[in-house]
Amino acid sequence: MESPRELWTGRFEAGWRDRCHATVPQQEAAYHKKFGVSKTQVLSPFLDAIGDQPSILEVGCSYGGQLAFLEHHGFNNLTGIDISKDAVLQAGSEEGVSADLTMGDAASLPFVTDAFDVIFTSGCMINIPPLNYWEFVGRSLV
Ligand SMILES: C[S@@+](CC[C@H](N)C(=O)[O-])C[C@H]1O[C@@H](n2cnc3c(N)ncnc32)[C@H](O)[C@@H]1O
Repeated sequence: MESPRELWTGRFEAGWRDRCHATVPQQEAAYHKKFGVSKTQVLSPFLDAIGDQPSILEVGCSYGGQLAFLEHHGFNNLTGIDISKDAVLQAGSEEGVSADLTMGDAASLPFVTDAFDVIFTSGCMINIPPLNYWEFVGRSLV
């Protein structure tokens, strides 16, 4: 069986991007269909609470769908990191996400402690072994 790292740096990862890619309008529509309200409505308490132009890191950003959503809402101090080189390349080129994009592993982030005001992740931490996860949380959030 492939390890999470092998999955997310191999064909599974490319397939995930094909299946799950969504523009901001498509993300909004998907929330409407599932929950009866837009993604913006669901996330507005969070978006309103994180202050004026915080520096934001997404761990496991893939093609940049979440970063594009944040950019759409006026956030422009964005950084994304993903273990998949192809995903990061797509985010920067095809998607045109204006974030600092880096290929790298959540278990050993190449950023100094307290480098960001906000760190978030979506659908990524399930792939991180628990020990590395706590190291990540401790190093990056505390
Ligand atoms: C389910 S996708 C979610 C992508 C994006 N966060 C979103 O919500 O649209 C999970 C992402 O986590 C990335 N990932 C998995 N393990 C990782 C790791 N150890 N370090 C960095 N990224 C990782 C994958 O390459 C993939 O892009």
